[in-house]
Amino acid sequence: ASSHGTGPFIAAIDQGTTSSRCIVFDRDGRIVAVDQKEHEQIFPKPGWVEHDAAEIWTNVQEVVAGALDKAGITTADVKALGITNQRETTVLWDKATGEPVHNAIVWQDTRTDGLCKELGRNVGQDRFRRETGLPLASYFAGPKIRWMLDNVEGLRERAEAGEILFGTMDSWVIWNLTGGAQGGVHVTDVTNASRTLLMNLRTLDWDDKILSSMEIPAAVLPEIRSSAEVYGTAKGALEGVPVASALGDQQAALFGQTCFSKGEAKSTYGTGTFLLLNTGDEPVNSYNGLLTTVGYRIGDQKPVYALEGSIAVTGSLVQWMRDQMGLIKSAAEIETLAMSVEDNGGAYFVPAFSGLFAPYWRSDARGVIAGLTRYVTKAHIARAVLEATAWQTREIVDAMNKDSGVELTSLKVDGGMTSNNLLMQTIADALDAPVVRPMVAETTCLGAAYAAGLAVGFWQDTDELRANWRRAAEWTPRMDAADRDREYKNWLKAVERTMGWIE
Ligand code: G3P
Repeated sequence: ASSHGTGPFIAAIDQGTTSSRCIVFDRDGRIVAVDQKEHEQIFPKPGWVEHDAAEIWTNVQEVVAGALDKAGITTADVKALGITNQRETTVLWDKATGEPVHNAIVWQDTRTDGLCKELGRNVGQDRFRRETGLPLASYFAGPKIRWMLDNVEGLRERAEAGEILFGTMDSWVIWNLTGGAQGGVHVTDVTNASRTLLMNLRTLDWDDKILSSMEIPAAVLPEIRSSAEVYGTAKGALEGVPVASALGDQQAALFGQTCFSKGEAKSTYGTGTFLLLNTGDEPVNSYNGLLTTVGYRIGDQKPVYALEGSIAVTGSLVQWMRDQMGLIKSAAEIETLAMSVEDNGGAYFVPAFSGLFAPYWRSDARGVIAGLTRYVTKAHIARAVLEATAWQTREIVDAMNKDSGVELTSLKVDGGMTSNNLLMQTIADALDAPVVRPMVAETTCLGAAYAAGLAVGFWQDTDELRANWRRAAEWTPRMDAADRDREYKNWLKAVERTMGWIE
């Protein structure tokens, strides 16, 4: 039992890049229970990243059962279930058996770089930007589907015969939750669909011309629905619970931070970092390397659009320091190690592990540590690791200011890395703007829960949700302008060194 009364409750599943989790929320948007499980990261070749979708589905079932158990509640207490997920990660599976036909290709994977270059030459970059709001890059789902169709033997024929289904992780989880091969619903939401390079941003439907130039049969695609409506009811452990929302994790965080008005923005510090600005009911074109994406759509209301700055590597750089380099034992240790020195000792670390995302979109970039001398210790590198997140945020904020014409006055943050005080201070310093964090830092799950709760009438409207937002912490800038300018210049010099590494 919990200290949050007897409910009822909303549950949310977050199928993320490194783990799957389930959180149970009460009516005030407070966390009642959390369960979480990591899954394997598969790196078959440099630049390739895969997940086992079957393992992920098993983990999702476990964390759902685990969270209900910890909350001491049963399915009867759960009014609705919301889904949020790592975006772009692509799975294709056999409709009759539910077996994935290949490991899921993760958003960080760069294997489709050559394919994207070829599409750029044959179809043109501009077409994709105009119709989908996205640059042609290996990050997005469409090219990953095409890669599997070209590389898994016999798959194209089976796909054309209607035997194969495609999904981002929302679709995969919802299909399995609602019965899988025994009648599972094959849907996605507008936010996830807006990350495929296949959806027309204005019609919010699959774009036939793009499908044919990308050679993807429409038969594999899910139906595109809103982000908050009942798609079906769950089978199994959550028998009978309405599955009532789906949002890509970054859009869910925007929703959980209650950025419901035009001009409101948030930045989520997870494996990667993603800054989204609500631009209201019109898509805004970017001329500075940002993405135009769908923010959310509640039922049959107008869609809300966003500008997004995506950074591929932030938290995953800390994990890399821990797992691949062995320089720290836990992720939290990066802060103590960095605090043991005053500055970066002249070192700058640009973690272009998946190429560079916003604002550059250069799949040919690879990581560098620049400015090394014998003076540099692992503590200086730890500082450079944290500063990398701060300067990448600064680059995004600069691009946002140019595209929207509005100067950022403060930044709402959330995500796992926000427990790192030194990092939050470094970001405030790099931006020369205050950084604020809400009470519930789990805004991704909260956003999915909010959307599901709205869909079933558990919450009435977005004003009710806004009232739940409470400030927990704030960091104000302390760096002087000359230092900031020098450091930013050095960072930008280091960024240049990453480009053109891959021919
Ligand atoms: O676009 C990728 C993003 O959705 C992944 O988010 O939090 O799993 O790194 P996260």
